[in-house]
Amino acid sequence: MGWAVIRWLVVVLLVAACGVPAVDPAYQGRGRITFVDSHDLSSSGPIKQRVEAWNARASSVEQVTYLPMPTPTDDYRAQLMARAGDLAGRRGADARAQCYDVVTLDVVWTAAFAQANYLARLPEPEIGPARFLPAAVESARVGETLWAVPWRADAGVLYYRADLLAAEGASPPTSWDQLERQAATIAPKYGIAGYVGQLGQYEGLTVNVLEAVWGHGGDAADFGGPGARAGVGRLANGVKQGWIPQEALRYDEAASLKEFLEGRALFLRTWPYARAELAASPLSGKFGMAPLPGPAALGGWNLAVSRCSAHQATAREFIRFLTGAESQEALLTQAGYPPTLVSLYEEPSLQAPLPHLVVLEAAVRSARNRPRTAHYDDVTRVVQRAVHHVLRNPESLDAELRRLAEDVARASAGR
Ligand code: GLC
Repeated sequence: MGWAVIRWLVVVLLVAACGVPAVDPAYQGRGRITFVDSHDLSSSGPIKQRVEAWNARASSVEQVTYLPMPTPTDDYRAQLMARAGDLAGRRGADARAQCYDVVTLDVVWTAAFAQANYLARLPEPEIGPARFLPAAVESARVGETLWAVPWRADAGVLYYRADLLAAEGASPPTSWDQLERQAATIAPKYGIAGYVGQLGQYEGLTVNVLEAVWGHGGDAADFGGPGARAGVGRLANGVKQGWIPQEALRYDEAASLKEFLEGRALFLRTWPYARAELAASPLSGKFGMAPLPGPAALGGWNLAVSRCSAHQATAREFIRFLTGAESQEALLTQAGYPPTLVSLYEEPSLQAPLPHLVVLEAAVRSARNRPRTAHYDDVTRVVQRAVHHVLRNPESLDAELRRLAEDVARASAGR
């Protein structure tokens, strides 16, 4: 058998094994593309505006169709996975037409999507990953391979009622002990809840719990240890003692923001986008934004090219446009989305009008990644189930955490 035949056979086998090979010249072209993103949390619709800006400049053959998908993050993931799974291994015009060319991925999904063969590899020299926040780039890599480009960074921050803390002669808390004390003593004087976050049983809960665990010296790899016990115990006691309201066990981002924005809570843990919403509300001038009392979780969204995309050259160029300085600056100034480009934090023309940029920079630079594993979905599911049970039944803390430590080890290993 000649070399040409062997090469041809290898290509055929690769195509058969994974549908479309990682770099296939037939898929590198230019043309119309679709772009899906989890539904824009900000009310000003800045993402749609970015797509419009691209379409106004691009040629008629490289127009982008924007498809906003439902929030919260778990529903969006399920829809993306289902579509990619349907198309995996299918070629032809029909499959290409159904392909979502550019997808935004939550920072915790890269490994699972890459391992399932849904993404196209990205050429590093073209992307220049050194320009982006290191932890965000880390979230977009698996081993040496870059599968996505960091776009919107996110990190947990603490919003507080500056007016009420000032009236009590208090400063924003810098430790969990202080936060608990203020939430338990100041909030009741004003007839409001002490602390709300995202404690519904979904991805937001994993984020809130990891931050509490890290803030007490623990880690996701050691749910049986004292740090995890103290962190989860803090939240469970909060619910039991009442400085965290029972209703918070159903809150996601939107519900928790509503409570704070309508003046019913002293503290809110959420993401930076909320600042712009609060500044445009009656609470304007009465709230502040501070770092969390412990390490924040890195959240955020990276942009990836689907392997099924027939127009990957356009897809990559569109990603370079969205992740470029002009787009990131627009998202920051219009909606408060923290940039992933390091240079923007150092930009004097942004620092002057946005004095909170330093808080954002400190939060995203020190934020920690959630466990990076292709089995993240299973890991987060066991965490959510166990912790939500503890928050409803605080007496089950020790037994649940012992079991959770084993479940996390099993899920991380894909068993
Ligand atoms: C935000 C974060 C994302 C996180 C999600 C949890 O969208 O950017 O990383 O997983 O919230 O609800």
